[in-house]
Amino acid sequence: MTRKFTGDRLLVATHNTGKLEEMAHLLRPFGVAVVGAGDLGLPEPEETEDTFVGNARIKAHAAAKAIGLPALSDDSGITIDALNGAPGVYTADWAETDQGRDFLAAMTRAHHELEKKKAPFPRTAQFRCTLVLAWPDGHDEVFEGVAPGHLVWPIRGKDGFGYDPMFVPSGYDVTYAEMDRWEKNKISHRGRAVQMFVNGCFGG
Ligand code: IMP
Repeated sequence: MTRKFTGDRLLVATHNTGKLEEMAHLLRPFGVAVVGAGDLGLPEPEETEDTFVGNARIKAHAAAKAIGLPALSDDSGITIDALNGAPGVYTADWAETDQGRDFLAAMTRAHHELEKKKAPFPRTAQFRCTLVLAWPDGHDEVFEGVAPGHLVWPIRGKDGFGYDPMFVPSGYDVTYAEMDRWEKNKISHRGRAVQMFVNGCFGG
């Protein structure tokens, strides 16, 4: 049986402000306030696994052990069908430059690789989010949310973060970056994973 979360403050093991803001928005209706790992001065552990769940486990367990309370981590990214699932767990790495993370460069790379392959349209992709809730005693619970869609070029929209301006979720004709956060959270990979977390870990 799924272990329950009791408490009104939850440590979210991320330094990504985009993820943190969405998580705060998603969990507020359940009376849970989120605290980011960066706010507590926790270091970012190295993500050495080649799966979303492996990396999510590293982050959640490191944070739970550091503070002695349950911690929730999010490992997420985009898988592009015509690129055989790339960038996948390397979604953030594609944005790394000498000057820090540059998501316009990452989206441009995705577009160029699709062009090079003459990938047919629609260029289907999925955003994936794996959440791990870990307890200091080593127990954890895993929740996975997927949002199917396709990629567009040129990019569109100013809201959101990361690859949002390139991704149109199935059933919509606007990108994640053209939706307001409330609308994105209702249907996003993260929104779906949080819903599973809430269903599994809250209440009776
Ligand atoms: P990681 O989970 O920290 O390894 O990084 C995942 C990367 O995926 C982030 O840096 C973002 O670029 C991207 N990503 C995850 N979720 C979203 C989202 O909701 N919108 C846009 N990009 C996202």
